[in-house]
Amino acid sequence: MNLEVNSLTELNSLAKALFNFAGEDKVFIFEGEMGAGKTTFIKVLCEELGVKDVVSSPTFSIVNEYAAGNSIIYHFDFYRIRDIREAYDIGYEEYFYSGHICLIEWPERVEEILPEHYVRVEIKVLSPDKRAFTFSKNYL
Ligand SMILES: Nc1ncnc2c1ncn2[C@@H]1O[C@H](COP(=O)(O)OP(=O)(O)OP(=O)(O)O)[C@@H](O)[C@H]1O
Ligand SMILES: [Mg+2]
Repeated sequence: MNLEVNSLTELNSLAKALFNFAGEDKVFIFEGEMGAGKTTFIKVLCEELGVKDVVSSPTFSIVNEYAAGNSIIYHFDFYRIRDIREAYDIGYEEYFYSGHICLIEWPERVEEILPEHYVRVEIKVLSPDKRAFTFSKNYL
């Protein structure tokens, strides 16, 4: 699924489209160069899910948790990971296979531990305020 976004105001409807596309899938990976808009879109996804806390990049830790009603959302940023052991140390499996929504930035850094089944969101920068989003599903 391919969608062009010309303004940040379009991200809320894009978020709804992504959840429709995902169905029951819970693990989402976000690919795109630095500054493509991964965190920005994740923030809107969290808003749509009812998160009240402020969503920012998990700067000081690999994973942030947000409460959304009775459920939890896990937001990962693997940009700064230096060794895959750091992912084992935080106990990534407990998160990825929790049944809660996982939103993963820089999945390329932890390719070997991604679950078999996830939704991929690719963001391409077309111009300073234009992005192309592609949604796809991965099944091994
Ligand atoms: N869909 C969009 N359209 C236009 N500008 C956007 C869009 N998404 C994000 N931006 C702008 O791009 C900048 C960087 O966005 P963001 O922090 O979300 O990128 P990122 O992909 O998470 O980067 P990083 O890899 O560093 O984590 C922000 O200033 C934001 O306003
Ligand atoms: Mg980010």
